[in-house]
Amino acid sequence: MAKESDSEKQEGWTRRDWVKLGLVIGGSAAAGTVGVGLAGTLLRSPPPEQTKGPILYTRFPTDQWWNSFEGNPVKVTDFQEWQGATGVLGGSFADGKWIAGTGYPVLVIRVKRDDSVFSAPTDVALPSGFDLYYDDSARDIRIVVVYDRCAHLCCYPGWQVVQNPAPSRNYVGPAPTYEVYGLDPIYCVCHESQYDPMLLVKSTNANNGVEFVGPSRVHGPATRAIPILAVRAVDDALEAALVDPRWYQYC
Ligand code: FES
Repeated sequence: MAKESDSEKQEGWTRRDWVKLGLVIGGSAAAGTVGVGLAGTLLRSPPPEQTKGPILYTRFPTDQWWNSFEGNPVKVTDFQEWQGATGVLGGSFADGKWIAGTGYPVLVIRVKRDDSVFSAPTDVALPSGFDLYYDDSARDIRIVVVYDRCAHLCCYPGWQVVQNPAPSRNYVGPAPTYEVYGLDPIYCVCHESQYDPMLLVKSTNANNGVEFVGPSRVHGPATRAIPILAVRAVDDALEAALVDPRWYQYC
């Protein structure tokens, strides 16, 4: 068995551990375990019936600021600039804990509200009342909600939760989140794919040929973006909606 290099170790964690973690976030996170077997839930399809509703926090298997909020609604006011968290649309909960594999896992990221850098298509048909991202000019808040399944092999990319092994910075195209602000893009530690939340682009789902919108793929091996979910806020609680169920059908 190949050994992990020292550079891939951090506080006892290796890339292999992170890969397992990336897989089990969807398979066993509710049990708070790391490194358990690769459950069949990895390939479980999201339930088609829930296409819009509140985003509820989910626990991340390592210590994170939002873990104590598990099961509670995600509010736009919870986030400092550049903070993100994991959540779920349409997930099932038992005793306040998310039942892994249910619903649509998401990353919620408050990005810099900088129109000189941020870009997104403006000609996308969206569910009524929802927008491509949350945008509040009065409070200077902009939040992007991303479907948290990697376009490579369906691991669970993260936002600012893994620094070692560090994300590579040999990007395949513009990566303004790092190039302008010095922050690593959305990072899938499984095989190092990265996606830039400041750069929402059109891409094509290789499984069904459907065009979608999401954070640009800035580092492979993924070959395309990952899709956003449409959002709105009701009394500052974030709600998400599938733009088109086919956008999310690839795992
Ligand atoms: S599954 Fe994300 S990079 Fe391979």
